Amino acid sequence: MIYQLIFLTLMKNYHHFKYTDMMYTKKEYIDLLKSTRRENINYVIEELEELGFFLAPASTNFHSNHKEGLLEHSLKVCKVGLMLREQMINMNPDLESQLPLDSVILCTLLHDVCKSDIYKPAIKKRKNNFGVWEEYRGYDVDYSNFPLGHGEKSVIMLLRMGLELSDEEIMAIRWHMTAWDLAFQSQEMKANLNAAKDKTPLCCIVQTADGLATNLLEYKD
Ligand SMILES: [Fe+2]
Ligand SMILES: [Fe+2]
Repeated sequence: MIYQLIFLTLMKNYHHFKYTDMMYTKKEYIDLLKSTRRENINYVIEELEELGFFLAPASTNFHSNHKEGLLEHSLKVCKVGLMLREQMINMNPDLESQLPLDSVILCTLLHDVCKSDIYKPAIKKRKNNFGVWEEYRGYDVDYSNFPLGHGEKSVIMLLRMGLELSDEEIMAIRWHMTAWDLAFQSQEMKANLNAAKDKTPLCCIVQTADGLATNLLEYKD
């Protein structure tokens, strides 16, 4: 009985810690967005809430494939992006004027808003360590709500929320997946991607931060 009580207390505290951790993560995310002082940013935050952004996973089978994974991923991309910005400006001060702080914050925090409405909770099956099939809570993906692609969907959603984005910010969000998001290896798309990368270093910062956060800082459940 006493062990049961200890276990229940620990579990209660564990959930409490997890809960407050995520509350802190969400507050940090919102505070960073607000720090950009962009017009309509409060409305954007309300829309993100309504769309389910703050609860969505970042993927079904890959990185941060758990509840609130998208929030966690976006914040990590932002932190890596800010670090890269600082280091790159240290090495080449000319870059500062092309990498406004608010642009890096906005693009990294919002690059994946296209994922807010595509993941649906589902009961899935997998083999456990003993080779026995077991059920677990996961997600299915469903693009039917607004089937428009990836980076381009994020851009359109943000513009529709009334967020004014610069050309550079639009390019950085649109092309954050680099060549992983080329329609059927289209030559025109390749040329556009290269032109965007040549036009603004913001593209490189957001692409690299996304890759580093995904591959080096996140785990799969
Ligand atoms: Fe993405
Ligand atoms: Fe991402």
